Amino acid sequence: MKQKLILKLVLLGDPGVGKTSLISQFVHARFRHSYQLTVGLDISSKQVTLNDGRTVTLSINDIGGQARFAAIRHMFFKGAHLAMFVYDVTRAETLENIKDPWYKELMEFCGQQGKSSVQTILVGNKADLEDYRMIEIEEGITLANEINANSHISASAKDNIQVDEAFKTLAQSFFDERQE
Ligand code: GTP
Repeated sequence: MKQKLILKLVLLGDPGVGKTSLISQFVHARFRHSYQLTVGLDISSKQVTLNDGRTVTLSINDIGGQARFAAIRHMFFKGAHLAMFVYDVTRAETLENIKDPWYKELMEFCGQQGKSSVQTILVGNKADLEDYRMIEIEEGITLANEINANSHISASAKDNIQVDEAFKTLAQSFFDERQE
């Protein structure tokens, strides 16, 4: 019998950056304009096809970005294979906060000898709001390098730009890393 491979993915980032929206677009091809903060944790799953045709199931953990959920958030970082850091390209502080607290939190709970054992990607969401952009792509790439993320992607959950790519690139990086 063929074994089903499941990778645990966690999303991290400030409240309102679009974590739930990216998941909703990726899993259900839906976008909602109204904001409903994520209380605690939501888990959904979706299969992705890797470059070599194999499939892998992502178990996607959407953890509320509000400070008051910090205590329970840590429990859900445990055992994560993949992490997607999300910032909002229209709000500068959401990129600053990727390093501290988000990267710091992940390292604290999934780090090994100063290096994360989790494969990561940095996503600049709301790229459709070009007129309100406060963060240039280069700044995102610089930060991605600083936190050793595998890649940086500019995306829009609203217009479904680069959303599938973000999740697939992250899943693929897990296997690429193991082949090196
Ligand atoms: P928490 O649950 O509090 O951690 O927030 P979140 O990061 O899950 O944010 P959420 O997905 O709930 O989105 C917050 C708001 O931003 C909602 O009003 C969304 O409609 C809006 N939004 C999300 N993604 C995009 C996008 O790509 N473009 C635009 N224009 N709006 C977006």
